[in-house]
Amino acid sequence: MTQTHHREAWSSRLGVIMAVAGSAVGLGNFLRFPGLAAQYGSGAFMIAYFISLLLIGFPICWVEWTLGRYGGQKGFHSSPGIFSVLLRHPAGKYIGVLGVIIPVIIYTYYVYIEAWCLGYAFYFFTGKLSLGSDVAAYSEFWSNFVGANRDGMTLEGGQNQVVIFLAIVFSLNFYLIYRGLSKGIELFCKYAMPVLVILAFITLARVLTLGTPDASKPDQNLLNGLGFMWNPGDVSKQLSNPQLWLAAAGQIFFSLSVGFGVIITYASYLTNRDDVVLSGISASSTNEFCEVALGGMITVPAAFVFLGSAGIVGQGTFGLGFNVLPLVFSKLPYPWFFGGIFFFLLFLAAVTSSLSMLQPGIAFLEEGLGLKRRQSVTLLGMITAIGCLFVVYNSKDLKALDTLDFWVGTFLIFILATILIILFGWGIGVEKGWTEAHKGAEIRIPSFFKPIIKYVSPLYLLIIFSLFILFNVFGWDPSTGAFQPSSYISDLVGETPNAAARLSVLFIVIVAAFFMVLIGTAGKRWDNAKNGANLPDNQDSETES
Ligand code: PFF
Repeated sequence: MTQTHHREAWSSRLGVIMAVAGSAVGLGNFLRFPGLAAQYGSGAFMIAYFISLLLIGFPICWVEWTLGRYGGQKGFHSSPGIFSVLLRHPAGKYIGVLGVIIPVIIYTYYVYIEAWCLGYAFYFFTGKLSLGSDVAAYSEFWSNFVGANRDGMTLEGGQNQVVIFLAIVFSLNFYLIYRGLSKGIELFCKYAMPVLVILAFITLARVLTLGTPDASKPDQNLLNGLGFMWNPGDVSKQLSNPQLWLAAAGQIFFSLSVGFGVIITYASYLTNRDDVVLSGISASSTNEFCEVALGGMITVPAAFVFLGSAGIVGQGTFGLGFNVLPLVFSKLPYPWFFGGIFFFLLFLAAVTSSLSMLQPGIAFLEEGLGLKRRQSVTLLGMITAIGCLFVVYNSKDLKALDTLDFWVGTFLIFILATILIILFGWGIGVEKGWTEAHKGAEIRIPSFFKPIIKYVSPLYLLIIFSLFILFNVFGWDPSTGAFQPSSYISDLVGETPNAAARLSVLFIVIVAAFFMVLIGTAGKRWDNAKNGANLPDNQDSETES
């Protein structure tokens, strides 16, 4: 067969770093991270956070980059395809389903939050989000906007415009995905990333010049705000809290986009001449800079200066981002400007992340089923639209969103990450993996990472995962030794189960089963291609033209 289509590829090294950094820098950096840090007492949280970065973040990041490029060299770009060459066992490709369903399902709720950000940017720029100085007004606005009071609320039309914003962001994502890797994702990230960093610096400059805005409350000044975010509290006591370690490890995964199947796919479009060591560390460092130096300096200190610690504690991520911050912006001169650019930067950060959640699904549909770009985009669009409508409909207390985030965005990513690191450290072997990682590399990974990857990371992950099951699933209380199943379990099998939670889990199962069936079909194609010596590389290069 003559190859009429040529492979997709990144057009430059900077482009791929921007795309991976774009995936990593997202709502996690500017909302989730500050929320968790404030909740767990920042100094102690940062210790657990950096330990997790070193022991699992960087190692799994390099592992994903290396395995992804290796799979790409064998002609595969999807997680099932890459796993089929890595495991060399017929079951291998089915394990790879995790690298497709995780990003696809996360997309269904992440894009909803992305729509809130665009909506908030729009409402700030048009002056609609000036609701006075009572946080209750902002919280009521948000609950109505996202439909947190009642199921189906946002689909009833009338005042509520969230579905319009959702339609816009959904279409934008699929338009860019349709344009392809370099003309869509890469091009968008190349512009969006610098713009969002500039907007973050403008916001940061404003926050750092807040001083003491209310002379009658001298304690609520910027320095104390920074102290609230960064001073270690009673570190030894806080570090003995297992929840803090779980939160820190979960944040490292979520923020770096490792363990999702995303980096494997992105890296599969590289060649052996590309430097995965340097690219991996550059993208991760960009993410850490945006998270710690920008995200960590903006949200919490600004909220502290205007509301004190009482206004922050117990707010949770969404409370902080969509109730407290709008109130804070409304107290600044030019609220429309600072509120507008902050939520617009969140929106840009979210788009560059959600794009990365779609590419693994597209890659699989194209190489597994031989679909053309238009068909793969349509099919994935339909699957994610159903999931997204499900999330939007079951909006009471954001139950569907929360349930999917727990079982997919936390539980399944631990599993995928553990499989990847064990595969690299034990299946392929660290030495061989090391040689593979360093092909085309201009810098070397420090060799102390070898024992870390082989022993420490898997052990650390297993401990964290066991703690997660013990505390967050079975609800173990160490002081009494009793088990009080967490709400995620009682919602499913308790005396008063929650329908939305049950349906969410059913949705995960259906999506997984659907892709498993498709992987079965893909496997046959791949076997045939192997026999005919034709690898399944039949994607369109970019858009069909
Ligand atoms: N890393 C992104 C953030 O910090 O917001 C979130 C994310 C991106 C999660 C890509 C999952 C994913 F596949």
